[in-house]
Amino acid sequence: MSLIEVKDLRKVYRIDQERVVALGRVNLSIDEGEVCCILGTSGSGKSTLLNIMAGLEKPTRGKVLIGGEDITAMGERQLALFRQKNIGFIFQSYNLMPTLTAVENVAMPLMFRGVSRARRDKEAKKMLKAVGLGKRMKHRPTQMSGGQQQRVGIARAFVAKPKIVFADEPTGNLDSHTTLEVMEMIVHMARDHGETLILVTHDKEIAQYADRIVRLVDGAIISDTPNQSIIGREEQAQPEEAATPAKDAPAEEAVPAEAVPSSEMPSPQADDPAPLPDPDAFPS
Ligand SMILES: Nc1ncnc2c1ncn2[C@@H]1O[C@H](COP(=O)(O)OP(=O)(O)OP(=O)(O)O)[C@@H](O)[C@H]1O
Ligand SMILES: [Mg+2]
Repeated sequence: MSLIEVKDLRKVYRIDQERVVALGRVNLSIDEGEVCCILGTSGSGKSTLLNIMAGLEKPTRGKVLIGGEDITAMGERQLALFRQKNIGFIFQSYNLMPTLTAVENVAMPLMFRGVSRARRDKEAKKMLKAVGLGKRMKHRPTQMSGGQQQRVGIARAFVAKPKIVFADEPTGNLDSHTTLEVMEMIVHMARDHGETLILVTHDKEIAQYADRIVRLVDGAIISDTPNQSIIGREEQAQPEEAATPAKDAPAEEAVPAEAVPSSEMPSPQADDPAPLPDPDAFPS
């Protein structure tokens, strides 16, 4: 069974007398561990589809099953808990909490899972080192560049080992060099842990990072194909990449994601559970 099943999904927005059909009748299955790109021009319905798949918006019709559970039938509170447990997000505009430091931002998903403070701190620091921000732990979002903020966003999305990470135009605000670094980091983190990554973009070059490309036009899927070019490239590159000595990588800035060893990633679950805070307080 697929991890994500989208069935006959339709979304119509109404503003006064006007109706906008954002999604026609979309069907899509995504397997566990897939890196899937939803590619389309502005207004084609990409964010609408991603938001409904992630349980952030309700469809007009149709449903979304994740691991066999119908998330479109869940109430808000149940959905919030489901998202905390299973889903990570990376946003175009980072959506970091401005008053919190990098470590505190990254630790947030663990707090919602009831992980102890000491453990949260440890895991968040490990993640920040893994994204090359070992020397920016105490910085707040305004004290970091866009690329650094997005790396905090990546660390936050992956820290709690979610089943699925959704990324909506994650490099939309970054220059081309930083885009490359950030994309490599996201894809390698997902692949390292066999996480499912759903990436939304209008950019064909970004789509090349995925192993499957679903094209959306006017709220309908017009093609759904394996990304041959990336498969070929990875096969060629594999032996050398695997040999990269991870420990020699500089602790600060632009650590290539392939140099991040799995052991540097936090171990999955909580110890010492603390009382669960209000899930609705989680920024979405
Ligand atoms: N809250 C809303 N109310 C009304 N219409 C909306 C709303 N959100 C999206 N739409 C409309 O639905 C359509 C799809 O929007 P969506 O945001 O999914 O597009 P997108 O592919 O993500 O575009 P972009 O690349 O610009 O982010 C658009 O025509 C948009 O105007
Ligand atoms: Mg969008």
